[in-house]
Amino acid sequence: ITVYVPRDSAALAVGADRVARAIAAQATQRGLNVRLVRNGSRGLFWLEPLVEVVTTQGRIAYGPVDPTDVPGLFEAGFLQGGAHALALGPTEEIPFLKHQERLTFARMGIVDPLSLADYEAHEGYAGLRRALELTPSQVVQQVLDSGLRGRGGAAFPAGIKWKTVAGTTAPQKHIVCNADEGDSGTFSDRMTMEGDPFVLIEGMTIAGLAVGATQGWIYVRSEYPHAIATLESAIAIARQAGYLGPDVMGSGRAFELVVRKAAGAYVCGEETALLESLEGKRGIVRAKPPLPAIEGLFGQPTVINNVITLATVPIILARGADFYKHYGMGRSRGTLPFQLAGNLKHGGLVEKAFGLTLRELLFTFGGGSASGRPIKAVQVGGPLGAYLPESQWDLPLDYEAYAAVGAAVGHGGIVAHDDSADMSKLARYAMEFCALESCGKCTPCRIGSTRGMEVIDRITLHRQQPAAHAQQVALLKDLCDTMLYGSLCAMGGMTPYPVMSALNHFPEDFGLSTPQREAA
Ligand code: NAI
Ligand code: SF4
Repeated sequence: ITVYVPRDSAALAVGADRVARAIAAQATQRGLNVRLVRNGSRGLFWLEPLVEVVTTQGRIAYGPVDPTDVPGLFEAGFLQGGAHALALGPTEEIPFLKHQERLTFARMGIVDPLSLADYEAHEGYAGLRRALELTPSQVVQQVLDSGLRGRGGAAFPAGIKWKTVAGTTAPQKHIVCNADEGDSGTFSDRMTMEGDPFVLIEGMTIAGLAVGATQGWIYVRSEYPHAIATLESAIAIARQAGYLGPDVMGSGRAFELVVRKAAGAYVCGEETALLESLEGKRGIVRAKPPLPAIEGLFGQPTVINNVITLATVPIILARGADFYKHYGMGRSRGTLPFQLAGNLKHGGLVEKAFGLTLRELLFTFGGGSASGRPIKAVQVGGPLGAYLPESQWDLPLDYEAYAAVGAAVGHGGIVAHDDSADMSKLARYAMEFCALESCGKCTPCRIGSTRGMEVIDRITLHRQQPAAHAQQVALLKDLCDTMLYGSLCAMGGMTPYPVMSALNHFPEDFGLSTPQREAA
């Protein structure tokens, strides 16, 4: 009998290891032959640790399981899918999972992350096999035709980036995976690295073959020790099986991969600061141009893509660009793994095609607020993303539709706040975050963020003095304009998004009436 207990950090944090040990101990005590598989998470975090049993009716889920529940589960015959208060029925039928469109996350929670046989049995390496049948430029064309855009947040077409690197002539080129996932409320990169590491390895290998790079680097957030360990094991397994090394799958072409632990700074997720850090220097942003695609790591042409971008490439190659392009809307093709966090009943991962609405994510999937109070504001796209009020929750989640209202889909992080949130405090926090994380290279960000905190403090202080209050609001707007247009990178350049959206949509939290706001 096979029992799955996740090894994902989110499950470990709520006691998955203790649950696994309790199941093993009970099985031994009862003389039962139980095979325990430590899978990735299905992404239903409020149900973790989510235990699954393989029965004749498929996989049956139980959760959230506490170690003290385990004897009772055995008593209830859970190994045969028996009834119990924690029983959730067939895993795939749980509505949160059933209504998703999992392409990049197709194997998530289903396979043993470090079993190559499992990976191959679930379409693994079909993409690389197909890529080896094509010429490098045909592989680039597939990525271009699929419409895949950078999933790190900037949404730049991945195929164009690859084409730029492929078009350079250099003795050495690189594939760099940006796994310095720093956005608040995001975890899709981590889940992929912990729960399906071979898909990232395969995607990077395809990228290497397509652009003529033989060396890959994965720059992983230092707070992700489990991801680092899993990737290192997976790379060794892939190398052993001939999927990496001097002769990838007998093609005579080489590709190697190394993992580097990141430096622990948010700005090191910015691509040029990341390159500096990878080169062993302090993570300071470089001016662009030159683009990393032309002069990147060690001055050589480099593809830098986020984990999810690279992990999406295998399915595009395996099923074809048309298959992938069929999902989504407008210029936002395919799917995005949205990450539900903050004050929501059901936090977790929802992969859906672009075009659904925030309201669907918050209520159909997220189940509304965890506190039971009305949701007031939702930050989409990380700490540099805008706060969306209810009037914007019916917009389709699409890069262009969001940009049109001064918001960003970004890396797909969704953080909900209920009506107890004070938006002036959250706006101040955005400035404080920028001040803490600024690399210091340019003035609008380095100085502006600190001045921004002070101005917001004065706005709060002068609530009862209309003239002084209006002056400070005007100053904040002016400062945000300077940061928006004068900063060298997104850190300072996007901090105005949360600040201005909080001020514009929730003026009452800044002590402003609507006429005062219009006058400002
Ligand atoms: P960007 O718009 O400057 O660049 C996007 C990418 O396209 C870069 O890799 C750039 O080098 C490349 N590129 C641009 N023109 C090119 C060309 N002609 N040929 C080849 N490559 C080209 O955006 P940036 O500064 O890289 O990223 C900002 C975004 O990062 C923000 O939108 C934000 O959402 C996101 N972000 C994500 C975080 C996360 O944890 N995932 C954290 C912080 C920010
Ligand atoms: Fe550095 Fe901030 Fe300027 Fe970016 S905007 S280069 S983080 S000082």
